[in-house]
Amino acid sequence: MTQNKVGFSKLSKEEKINWIATNHFANPKEAIAVLHQYKNSDESLQKLHDEFIENTLTNFYLPLGVAPNFTINGKNYTIPFAIEESSVVAAASKAAKFWGARGGFKTTILGTEKIGQVHFTYEGDKQILNEYFNFVKPFLLSETEDITKNMQKRGGGISDIQLVDKTEALENYYQLHATFQTKDSMGANFINSCLEQFAKTFKNKSEEFGINSIQIVMSILSNFVPNCVVRAEVSCSVSELNEDKNITSSEFAEKFLTAVKIAEVEPYRAVTHNKGIMNGIDAVVLATGNDFRAVEAGVHAYASKDGKYTSLSHAKIENGIFTFWLDVPLALGTVGGLTNLHPLVKFSLEMLGNPSATELMEIVAVAGLAQNFAALRSLTTSGIQQGHMKMHLNNILNQHKATKEEKQLVISHFENKTASHNLVVDFLESLRK
Ligand code: MEV
Repeated sequence: MTQNKVGFSKLSKEEKINWIATNHFANPKEAIAVLHQYKNSDESLQKLHDEFIENTLTNFYLPLGVAPNFTINGKNYTIPFAIEESSVVAAASKAAKFWGARGGFKTTILGTEKIGQVHFTYEGDKQILNEYFNFVKPFLLSETEDITKNMQKRGGGISDIQLVDKTEALENYYQLHATFQTKDSMGANFINSCLEQFAKTFKNKSEEFGINSIQIVMSILSNFVPNCVVRAEVSCSVSELNEDKNITSSEFAEKFLTAVKIAEVEPYRAVTHNKGIMNGIDAVVLATGNDFRAVEAGVHAYASKDGKYTSLSHAKIENGIFTFWLDVPLALGTVGGLTNLHPLVKFSLEMLGNPSATELMEIVAVAGLAQNFAALRSLTTSGIQQGHMKMHLNNILNQHKATKEEKQLVISHFENKTASHNLVVDFLESLRK
């Protein structure tokens, strides 16, 4: 523990690795070998990754897979997925093929507004604060001109700033609630820079105005973006909906609809239902270098915006037409951040045709809807385990160091049976006897 006093961050990478290995591992040599195994032999690439974060020891790989044949608004896409969970990519590919033969996915951008707030306290007369806000608002805009001029050239900028009285929720608490358009960038740095300048101007001018009790608490963008939303949708006639011979099309459509309604009314189910949607969304968000934590936080806040956590997707049958759609808030960027830095992010974006941020919102939402469709189709027909375990089989076999021959025998044995971890291990052991 003496190393902490020296300052771990000041050590070289090799020193950090040695310190970790000797202080935390029974077999330091083995620990060091694992870290080195994941190091990239291309030094400049390794340096790039080392510098993304602090105290980097090595790389943590996730597989990058692709789901081809997505038709979105008549255009063909191959979508990249960075994810560790088996069966997600297969499910997306299957849903892409299914809906590709039925007109493809359609999307609509419902809004692109981003939000940021300066949180402050004030103890005086509310009327005076209102007068002060009207006085200072033009200065809030003029004193951020240096920050906003480039964004304005690209068609974005500050849309509005409002004074919000939150004193009923918390004594003396007010906000400057600002809205922004950030075009193809996610906009976090732009928004936070504007907000910090608002805070300075707001505080400085208040003293000139004769107000002394304004205390700036903090200035930060919000990851809740209920007006930065995209809709992804599929539809077809009920008669075209089913490919499973064990159930009629209309029975399947009704069952599917009920499954969606259950997620709309039952939070326990809604969370899992939405988790399936996020399997698609997070994987594409990650592959395209976007901030999946921000997206996750914003999506679940949106799912509970009316006071109760509910499904992000909805379905209806009208005049024999089945429609299934998803509304999802997505603050994404295709410029800035990791997009120009990470070689695989650049690869993913180029594979998607270097989309604008709104086009990427559409693609990501479609990946979410495709996942949700695939999950509900399995859940309401064969059950999830049959397909899932088929895809997971390889993980179990690798875990038990199965040979190529053993893998083939196990896979053909479980071809038409639902596998489980124990059944696979039992069968593998019977082969080895
Ligand atoms: C598993 O990763 C996702 C599902 O649980 C989603 C769902 O239940 O809808 C299959």
